[in-house]
Amino acid sequence: MKLRNPTVLASGILGVTGSSLVNVARHGAGAVTTKSIGLNERAGHKNPILLAFDAGLINAVGLPCPGIEESLYELRYAVENSEAPVIASLFASTASEFGVVAERVSRAKPAMIEVNISCPNVASEFGRPFALEATSAARAVEAVQANTRLPIVAKLSPNANNICDIARAVEEAGADAVSAVNTLGPGMIIDIHSAKPILCNKTGGISGPALRPIALRCVYDIYKAVDLPIIGIGGIDSGEAAIAMIMAGARAVGIGSGIYYRGIDVFSSVCKEIQEFMDHGGYSRIDEMIGIAHEKEARNQK
Ligand SMILES: Cc1cc2nc3c(=O)[nH]c(=O)nc-3n(C[C@H](O)[C@H](O)[C@H](O)COP(=O)(O)O)c2cc1C
Repeated sequence: MKLRNPTVLASGILGVTGSSLVNVARHGAGAVTTKSIGLNERAGHKNPILLAFDAGLINAVGLPCPGIEESLYELRYAVENSEAPVIASLFASTASEFGVVAERVSRAKPAMIEVNISCPNVASEFGRPFALEATSAARAVEAVQANTRLPIVAKLSPNANNICDIARAVEEAGADAVSAVNTLGPGMIIDIHSAKPILCNKTGGISGPALRPIALRCVYDIYKAVDLPIIGIGGIDSGEAAIAMIMAGARAVGIGSGIYYRGIDVFSSVCKEIQEFMDHGGYSRIDEMIGIAHEKEARNQK
């Protein structure tokens, strides 16, 4: 999949409706990802579901979904009207259900399918995320692969004991790329005046700046473990953060919480800042920076 620039709208942020995805593409994203699509209608968790704290965001949106028909209607609109490729994110509660959703979603002809096996906020209903265990992660990807001809990106969790094992498992199962990472945790914020956790779900996934160094380490490790292209996600809100992620091994960067910090122009701002760094540092192509933190490490060890 060829992107006009390395920024990708991460799943779950401004990705529920087709017109919102089109708008994000118009504001400069190199690709846009839908909110994760499931088979059945789901309400998600009750408010409050999202909170900013001093080092990032915490959310327990809980995968709300209008059901497959309405989601496909929005996806088709995005595919027909977006100036950037549309990645359809999907979730399911079983491996075989992943296959069913993948088959339905493929009919809308997105550029790629992202398999969300890593949401940390629905364990009470769905059980442990597939991305925490290599066999479960592989089964979900295999089911998607058996039901689509589209390229598949598997979205990994920073909560896995060994994210490299999971990356290897999804590579073997047929994934064409990995995106890393989904939110970290779950974490908790307590309001000391009411003496209660603020989120209605009590706990939620951490994103934004607090996640950045962990996401970076995950991408660095995955780059060494597999040959797949990586979309690096977690706390990217500046050219500097994006470049570090690319140097760790990412081929593109996902941006979610960065929209909260810098507005919808974050995509064009990050691209401009990357370009300035490249002009200054004598880089002419993004490819020249992918994974170079590893070369430097190898040189230091000699
Ligand atoms: C409000 C919110 C909703 C999210 N919903 C989804 C989702 O539906 N599917 C998914 O794969 N990731 C979802 N994510 C995770 C993001 O796609 C991303 O992996 C994570 O937030 C880390 O990136 P960031 O620091 O740029 O936000 C959500 C994140 C937030 C903050």
